[in-house]
Amino acid sequence: MPILSVHGLEKAFGGLHAVDGVSFEVAEGELLGLIGPNGSGKTTVLNMLSGVLDPDGGEVRLDGQPVAGLSADRLARRGMLRMFQLTRVFDRMPAFDNLLTSGLALGMDEAAATTRASELAEELRLEHVMHLDARQLSGGQRKLLEFGACFMVRPRVALLDEPFAAVHPTMKEVMAQFIRRRHAEGQTFLLVSHDMPVIVELCPRAICMNAGKVLAEGPTAQVLGDRQVIEAYLGGGDEDDD
Ligand SMILES: Nc1ncnc2c1ncn2[C@@H]1O[C@H](COP(=O)(O)OP(=O)(O)O)[C@@H](O)[C@H]1O
Ligand SMILES: [Mg+2]
Repeated sequence: MPILSVHGLEKAFGGLHAVDGVSFEVAEGELLGLIGPNGSGKTTVLNMLSGVLDPDGGEVRLDGQPVAGLSADRLARRGMLRMFQLTRVFDRMPAFDNLLTSGLALGMDEAAATTRASELAEELRLEHVMHLDARQLSGGQRKLLEFGACFMVRPRVALLDEPFAAVHPTMKEVMAQFIRRRHAEGQTFLLVSHDMPVIVELCPRAICMNAGKVLAEGPTAQVLGDRQVIEAYLGGGDEDDD
């Protein structure tokens, strides 16, 4: 049984079908790439999977259980954890407490959350800024912090929306290494990124969306070489908003 299955997912904004009948499955332990030109509906898919938006139609199953339309809170407690394209951290709270808060919200006790937050800070090379308020961190450090917050409790599925966008290459490598290591340990990911070299390197399989639909799906190199995919990237006229 796939850990996550999506069938016929739909979302319209007024007359715009942002997500138009999207279906795919993610196997347990898979690191699946989700690519597509700007505006193709990737973030909207992640918003529905993580409970930020209610789908207009379609089915989402997590571990075989229907979860479409559950609140973000309930989905997070079931292990559907989400990192946003635009960083969301508590600005006026020390970085360390941001991690703690995330752990406590997910049901950890304080001792366990403290230990885990320290481990993550070290792994993400943020120890030296953990005492600072999140707003004092650089953009890349804030992204790493938000990234860490997703892993306070081991997610069933980690949904990452452009984690590498506007991040310094050194921090990008810290993040990529973290993803690689967790994937090797069996963590399941759905990774949205414009960064094709990283997608190729990290994701054995990818899905490409265009105009709300799945255009191609398969081994990442094959998807990137697909004629329709190339045309979608060339023809869209939309600029990357990274
Ligand atoms: N809240 C919203 N209200 C209206 N239109 C939206 C909203 N969110 C996204 N859209 C539109 O839906 C389409 C898909 O957007 P999005 O999912 O953000 O694409 P991607 O993440 O692939 O760049 C775009 O045309 C975007 O402008
Ligand atoms: Mg997006």
